[in-house]
Amino acid sequence: MTTLYDEAHARSLSDPDGFWGEAAETCFWYKKWDKVLDDSNKPFYRWFTGGETNTCYNALDFHIDKGRGDQAALIYDSPVTDTVKTYTYHQLRDTVARFAGVLADQGVVKGDRVIIYMPMIPEAAIAMLACARLGAIHSVVFGGFAANELATRIDDAKPKVVVSASCGIEVQRVIEYKPLLDGAIDASTHKPEKCVIFQRPMATADMIAGRDVDWIEAMEQATPRDCVPVAATDPLYILYTSGTTGQPKGVVRDNGGHLVALKWTMKNIYDVDAGDVYWAASDVGWVVGHSYIVYGPLLRGCTTILFEGKPVGTPDAGVFWRVIAQHQVKTMFTAPTAFRAIKREDPQAELIQQYDLSHFKVLFLAGERTDPDTLHWAEKNLGVPVIDHWWQTETGWAIAANCMGLHHYPVKEGSPTKAAPGWDVQVVDDACQPVAPGEIGALVVKLPLPPGTLPTLWQNDARYLESYLEEFPGYYKTADAGFIDAEGYIYVMSRTDDIINVAGHRLSTGAMEEVLADHPDVAECAVLGVADQLKGQLPVGFLVLNAGVERDEGEIIKEVIQMVRERIGPVAAFKTATVVKRLPKTRSGKILRGTIQKIADNETYKVPATIDDPTILNEMEVALEGIGYAKARS
Ligand code: COA
Ligand code: AMP
Repeated sequence: MTTLYDEAHARSLSDPDGFWGEAAETCFWYKKWDKVLDDSNKPFYRWFTGGETNTCYNALDFHIDKGRGDQAALIYDSPVTDTVKTYTYHQLRDTVARFAGVLADQGVVKGDRVIIYMPMIPEAAIAMLACARLGAIHSVVFGGFAANELATRIDDAKPKVVVSASCGIEVQRVIEYKPLLDGAIDASTHKPEKCVIFQRPMATADMIAGRDVDWIEAMEQATPRDCVPVAATDPLYILYTSGTTGQPKGVVRDNGGHLVALKWTMKNIYDVDAGDVYWAASDVGWVVGHSYIVYGPLLRGCTTILFEGKPVGTPDAGVFWRVIAQHQVKTMFTAPTAFRAIKREDPQAELIQQYDLSHFKVLFLAGERTDPDTLHWAEKNLGVPVIDHWWQTETGWAIAANCMGLHHYPVKEGSPTKAAPGWDVQVVDDACQPVAPGEIGALVVKLPLPPGTLPTLWQNDARYLESYLEEFPGYYKTADAGFIDAEGYIYVMSRTDDIINVAGHRLSTGAMEEVLADHPDVAECAVLGVADQLKGQLPVGFLVLNAGVERDEGEIIKEVIQMVRERIGPVAAFKTATVVKRLPKTRSGKILRGTIQKIADNETYKVPATIDDPTILNEMEVALEGIGYAKARS
């Protein structure tokens, strides 16, 4: 039987112009495109060239024009401040237009960059949309990153203005953002001209005269601004994500392709309509927050929820059910780790019984593979389909999903189901040859990528080509390994680079190694992601000290942990390290990370034929036992 999904997938690949051209007709354009898919400069593809639009117009004004002005656009639900605040489309548009006035008053014009370093408050989304309104390019930096990471992004994006807040709230702790921002600007070479600061009552920031502007005062003086038409191919935002070094990659998102693709996904993947309540429990600092807290639901005319809290502890493991019930959420999207945290506190799901979840229809999970335990626990206790889907910061939306608006396929454990329309996903070997169904290889996507995906890296075409397009000519390298079964179900098994996934957050072990290697007593080091029941993976560091170092090893470990926290941020969750005499290596000097990882994860492993000295593996086992891994865990 041919399903709607089969038809959509086949047409999206055989007739991309027709497929995406039709999707684009549902959006607002100042000027229609000349070409849907522009392949005149391969392997750089562009979507909707010649078209002019505005993403903020499509997300807000468009719905007011269609009579949805009084519908809730955004509900801010903050258990940490005990606040629920609703913005209708009218109110949100007016606030965004006024904040666009604030940015314009600071000199921001089309094409300027604005860094947004904010906690999960509505002002973060307002700032993003205000940039889009002016055609300025926002770059949101996640609050859990340290000043140093913020400085790196400031130097790369060269923002005219930074928008920030005085503080964020982590469960019960108030985290002051302003000292981090000031530290980042001190450390960066590029100096933003202005910082617009939203003062929160839990911690008021000291302002720097001449540079810092108070959000509330500036709003009182500003005049609302209209949307500025931009080319479909103009950047909407830059989002930095971990690469294999300490230098993050600036993923660029365009306006036209992004808006068309995201609006299309809302119906076809998530099966939501205008007026439905959609909740992505993530953070605006991550791609999920960009696509599915802010842009996707608003482009579709939904009510989106911006949640400032955690799955547990704000105040308890029932908060997700409370939010779903209180706001009549139809579709929710979060990371499996959030469900593992809830399951650990409330294994029998007793708290669910206290809430009426009758409006709730589907749970989507992404960010890491959904483990079978979490899948079944959620299915059993929520009584709705639980849909794993696979995507990346680079792709902006799902590469593979059970497209609920097209056809609901049976769920297979460990699989995000099939390639979404627009995606020609294949598995190849090292020589770029296709492998048989069921065989593991590199997961790649035949070019062109669909609209909404990265056209390049910010001012770095060379790194874009090198990172994604060169290893497998004609294909986009996802850097995930996996297989596709005979029915077309995709299985994503592991990364092929040094990226690890900690609580759904993407981190580079290479970047952590760069920090560790900077410690004066460390001669050599390795950081690996080892399996963790709650967070999926946790980084663990192995340090080889310089000859002659006689300091207390515990002190050195404490120091490197603090260094990672200060330079990368608490989000790295780097809390475990151990000192070893040497690291297992091949005869050519490559660290045998895979083998160390297998020992740590208690998996059976073969002694690699290329190992320099096999006796070292016993030393590694002892070291890992000493920090609670390897045999000690079984
Ligand atoms: N600002 C400042 N600090 C932050 C922060 C922010 N925005 N976000 C996280 N941190 C800090 C935390 O306070 C914590 O610090 P600590 O080491 O002092 O305790 C550290 O960074 C790690 O945070 P987190 O990964 O959130 O761990 P946690 O133990 O506090 O919570 C979970 C664990 C599973 C509840 C939490 O990670 C979670 O909700 N994950 C969902 C992930 C998600 O939404 N991913 C997005 C992709 S869909
Ligand atoms: P990020 O860029 O932070 O979204 O992280 C992207 C990476 O997370 C992917 O390359 C995968 O390694 C992993 N990932 C995301 N979603 C899934 C999923 N559903 N199944 C398996 N891995 C996933």
